[in-house]
Amino acid sequence: MRTWCNNLSSPTDNFKPIIPELLGEAAFVYVAKANELAKKGFKVISFGVGQPDIPTFPNIVEAGKDALDKRLTGYTETAGIYELREAISNYLNSRYSADVKPTEIIVTPGAKGAIFLAISSYIGPGDEVIVPEPSFPAYSEVTRFMGGKPVFVPLKWLGSEKGFALDTEKIESSITNKTKMIILNNPHNPTGALFPEEEIVKLYEIAKENKIIVLADEIYDNFIYDNLKFKGILSEVDWRDYVLYINGFSKTFSMTGWRLGYLVAKEELVQKLTRYAVNIYSCPTSFAQKAAVTALTSSWDHVKDMVHLFQKRRDLMAKLLSKVPGFEVWPSKGAFYMFPNISRFLEQSKISTEEFVEYLIEKYKVITLPGSCFPDKAGSKYIRFSFASSFEAIEEGVIRIHNAVNELLEK
Ligand SMILES: Cc1ncc(COP(=O)(O)O)c(C=O)c1O
Repeated sequence: MRTWCNNLSSPTDNFKPIIPELLGEAAFVYVAKANELAKKGFKVISFGVGQPDIPTFPNIVEAGKDALDKRLTGYTETAGIYELREAISNYLNSRYSADVKPTEIIVTPGAKGAIFLAISSYIGPGDEVIVPEPSFPAYSEVTRFMGGKPVFVPLKWLGSEKGFALDTEKIESSITNKTKMIILNNPHNPTGALFPEEEIVKLYEIAKENKIIVLADEIYDNFIYDNLKFKGILSEVDWRDYVLYINGFSKTFSMTGWRLGYLVAKEELVQKLTRYAVNIYSCPTSFAQKAAVTALTSSWDHVKDMVHLFQKRRDLMAKLLSKVPGFEVWPSKGAFYMFPNISRFLEQSKISTEEFVEYLIEKYKVITLPGSCFPDKAGSKYIRFSFASSFEAIEEGVIRIHNAVNELLEK
């Protein structure tokens, strides 16, 4: 008889996982590294991880505790409690003049859960997904997982005055009869770009003309600086026909560990996704959903204060980093990342981005991420900094980086 134990003692092909080789997410690797060094007693400065350094706002924590006290600890509806979906629709409708109904929303375990549901629902072997790069890794890796092909289109680097832009011409010319989806992440991780309305409209027109889905990840939609205007894709009246929309609680409300995101799509799709999701994870965490209602209904002053503070940190980081020899710095307009171009420094010091990042960790105990961990290759001459760190950490960290650069240039 074939039993589990028999198979274990004599492995067969059945025991070979069919998971393709995927990239991990560097931020998680470097968090572990930072923790390891800190345990050894080093004063580590981390610009690696993509989460606000401010803990979840106290009113949200209280709401979570209250839900636990009331023993809201059982399963909920798979798509999320109605109260939360209603709060999400109110937020989206008031902000984007959209008309999203609660039944057009599915709450997921983190925005990553939503990315997985969205890509895996549409992409199969041979399908192509256009990914402007550098990019958040999940888009290309889930595409690969499904047997699809990410087609990377580099963002245009316009220098330290203008920063990054979508290359809509290249996106258009990369479309083939296999293209099913275009990724639009705005504001953008890792570059900190905020794509202006005309670029979004152009991309949307291209998608419509070619009948391609836009997977719009707007998880940083509250991290916008210099009072710039943000064009949310849900303000397009026909979004239901072309858009899978992703957002979440991790960044805006500093709730990364609560694991709550959401996907907005037309109702029939949400119904299908709900039957898909129930077979994967049943429902999002019950008491976290209650806390998320409070997040959306009574935390906006905290969010405003945090974003205001982040803008000041961005200013400080941009000012200090632009004095580092060979660094070309564009003060980001969105998210909380800065992505300096360090090509000149790399040429002069004759080392690679990865070697530089390793050197910073080993010798100076400063954590940054090499741009090469944001697929595919366009980021290879950049490093990513998160400025969700204190003013002191930014000052001290950039001094250390400055010293490392001087040392490497003198070698
Ligand atoms: C662009 C982007 N989308 C999605 C996510 C995932 O968010 P969550 O923690 O809610 O899964 C992140 C997290 O870094 C991100 O940067």
